[in-house]
Amino acid sequence: MARQGRAEGRSIGLVPTMGALHEGHLSLVARAKKECSPLIASIFVNPKQFGPNEDFAKYPRAFESDSEKLKQAGVDALFAPEAAEIYPKDFSTYVHVAGLSEKLEGRSRPGHFRGVATVVMKLLQIVQPHRAYFGRKDAQQARLITQMARDLNLDSEIVVSPIVREPDGLALSSRNVYLNPAERQAATVLHGALEAAKSELAHGVRDGLQLKDVLQRTLRKQSVARVDYAEIVDADSFDPVVRISKPCYVLLAVFIGKTRLIDNLYVEPRSPDSDDLVFHL
Ligand code: PAJ
Repeated sequence: MARQGRAEGRSIGLVPTMGALHEGHLSLVARAKKECSPLIASIFVNPKQFGPNEDFAKYPRAFESDSEKLKQAGVDALFAPEAAEIYPKDFSTYVHVAGLSEKLEGRSRPGHFRGVATVVMKLLQIVQPHRAYFGRKDAQQARLITQMARDLNLDSEIVVSPIVREPDGLALSSRNVYLNPAERQAATVLHGALEAAKSELAHGVRDGLQLKDVLQRTLRKQSVARVDYAEIVDADSFDPVVRISKPCYVLLAVFIGKTRLIDNLYVEPRSPDSDDLVFHL
């Protein structure tokens, strides 16, 4: 279908997912639908991006309702391969984006980004989209895929879309179903910490360490929260920022009970030399 679309000069779109679809995924689909035809979505719970002690086995799977949601959203084709189709027995080629893969998410989840880069590379090769859509919810993943596409001269534009949140600020995630009611309530502390950092920035604070301190202090108030990392990083390198003057991310990875959640705030100067900041929460 994609080959035919390309031959006919149409703009093929791909939205890769691991299923258990929520409004975050569907926002990518809605945007892609406006910009592409045909639109293809994929559902594949990629075993290679889960660590040995992670949640691959219990990751939520909801194929029937997912395919219905995608149909309703106007997706033209769903690609939902079996693991053996993507990784035959003798599979032996991996994509490693050096540097970015070792930081933050990569440091906490060894091998995770190798699995992500490899599967996304395969999906892009199989579907051959003009545009592939990713969420800023996984900011480091989106940055890594953009780097891979550039480094390997891929013929797909990587589009990054905003975070969709619950009314109380919690970023939508397939993993939110793991939270019990008390944890679900406590999980709003991630958004609360990002709001606190945003408020400091809006009041003129530009010191990275001072902002980190605000994050830690807010997160510590919630007893079931255990911080994996809370960092302010350069939006390009994902290295810690001493003084905020360029686009950057405030990044959080926090365990709420046994569930690991991530969230972020993107901050950029209003114009290249301006001290005025624009916030994307
Ligand atoms: P998954 O977690 O299913 O997410 C699929 C896409 O939806 C990702 O690009 C993710 O950033 C985006 N997304 C998730 N929650 C979102 C939210 N609240 N708002 C906006 N976008 C959101 O990320 C993966 O799957 C996998 O790593 C994948 C890229 C499919 C490779 O296996």
